[in-house]
Amino acid sequence: MPQLLHIDSSAELSNSVSRGLTRLFADTWRSLGPGNTVVERDLHRAPLPHLPDAGLHYARRLRAQGETPDPAAEALQSELIAEVVAADVVVIGAPMYNWSLPSTLKAWIDYIHVLGTTVPFDTREQPLAGTPVVLVSSRGNTYGPDGPNAGLDHTVPPLQQALGVSLGMDVSVVTAELTLAGRIPAMTPMADKAAASLSAAEESVQRLARTLGS
Ligand SMILES: Cc1cc2nc3c(=O)[nH]c(=O)nc-3n(C[C@H](O)[C@H](O)[C@H](O)COP(=O)(O)O)c2cc1C
Repeated sequence: MPQLLHIDSSAELSNSVSRGLTRLFADTWRSLGPGNTVVERDLHRAPLPHLPDAGLHYARRLRAQGETPDPAAEALQSELIAEVVAADVVVIGAPMYNWSLPSTLKAWIDYIHVLGTTVPFDTREQPLAGTPVVLVSSRGNTYGPDGPNAGLDHTVPPLQQALGVSLGMDVSVVTAELTLAGRIPAMTPMADKAAASLSAAEESVQRLARTLGS
C-alpha cells in the first residue's frame, strides 16, 4: 500500500505548471494500482500560519527554559511531521517566487525541519532518511548553468539542503523553465524552448512516478 504525499504551493489555481506536473505525477501513481494511495496537502489553499515560536525548531528536550510553544502549534507540527513520515514518497510543487520558494512552502519546511526530531542532533534519529521526494520547480525564466542567470536559483538548492542533506531524503528534481513565454510578449521567441522544457518535465514526472510507485 504505497502512499504518496502530494504537496502544492502555487498561488496560480487555473494554469499552474507545477500543479499540472504534480497532478500528472499523482495520476500516474494512482494508475499503478488501487493500493497506490494519495494524501493531498495544498499549502496555498490551506496555508499554514508562519512558525509562531522558535521553540518549535527544537525537540522538547532541546528547548531552553521557559520556551513553551502554544500546544495548538505543537499539535499542528506533530500532525505535519506524522503526515510526511507516513508517506512512502513525496512530490512537492515548488514554483520559483522571487528567486526563492513560496512562503507557504517555506512555512511547511519550518514546521517539519526540527532538530532532535526529524534532524539528527543529539541522537541518530532521522525518520525521513531515504524517503524519496520529487521536487517539481516551475520558473518563468531559465536558470541553466551556462546562462546569464546561473546561480540565481534559490528555490531548489535550499530544498535540497533541508530535505536532502539535513533530513536525509532521497531528492529528485524536475524543472519546467521559461513558463512566462506564454504571458510576456518579449519572451514569445522562447515558446519552443518552453514547450520542450515542459514536455521533458512531463516525461520525467511520469517516469519517476512509475519507478517510485511500482
Ligand atoms: C510572486 C511571483 C514571483 C515570481 N518570481 C519569479 C522569479 O524570481 N524568477 C522567475 O523566473 N519567475 C518568477 N515568477 C514566475 C513563476 O516562476 C512562473 O510563473 C511559474 O510558472 C510559477 O509556477 P506555477 O506555474 O506552478 O504557478 C514569479 C511569479 C510569481 C507569481
